[in-house]
Amino acid sequence: MDELTQPIEDGLLMRDSGPWVKDKLNLLEGYMSTFATAMKRKNWSAFHYIDIMAGSGKNYIRDTGEIVLGSPLLALNQEIFTRYFFCEMTPEDYRALTRRVAAHQRGQKAKIYNGDANQKIEEICEEIDEVDRNRGQMWGIT
Ligand SMILES: C[S@@+](CC[C@H](N)C(=O)[O-])C[C@H]1O[C@@H](n2cnc3c(N)ncnc32)[C@H](O)[C@@H]1O
Repeated sequence: MDELTQPIEDGLLMRDSGPWVKDKLNLLEGYMSTFATAMKRKNWSAFHYIDIMAGSGKNYIRDTGEIVLGSPLLALNQEIFTRYFFCEMTPEDYRALTRRVAAHQRGQKAKIYNGDANQKIEEICEEIDEVDRNRGQMWGIT
């Protein structure tokens, strides 16, 4: 088991969070799982997951001492997504996220941007356009 990808202490930066964060992330995880089931038989060429305020990848729930996975690692656990685009502005969070994503078995599907999402979002959209354009060309669609 790789401690970097599990909800346990790994020596890297975690976000100090209130208890509501656990509820938020449980809802997100449930939604992604339901979405994956609903989309299973649909004929989409790709599913891109975009998280423009990605955080460090783990949260420390200060009231209970629990550690919970942040949204990027929860998303990586969902096999439906073809590619992942994460953006994090704070260098320390970005560094911790980069280590955790690299340790994940699906981490090579992710691209992580360090910077303000207001600027990086255009780059992300261009990259997705590029991937989709190439896929269209492969299939004779323009
Ligand atoms: C609540 S935290 C992490 C949330 C994460 N998506 C999750 O649910 O686990 C929000 C993060 O967004 C980052 N952030 C805030 N404004 C940002 C911006 N304009 N561009 C990129 N990151 C930003 C913060 O540094 C922080 O790490």
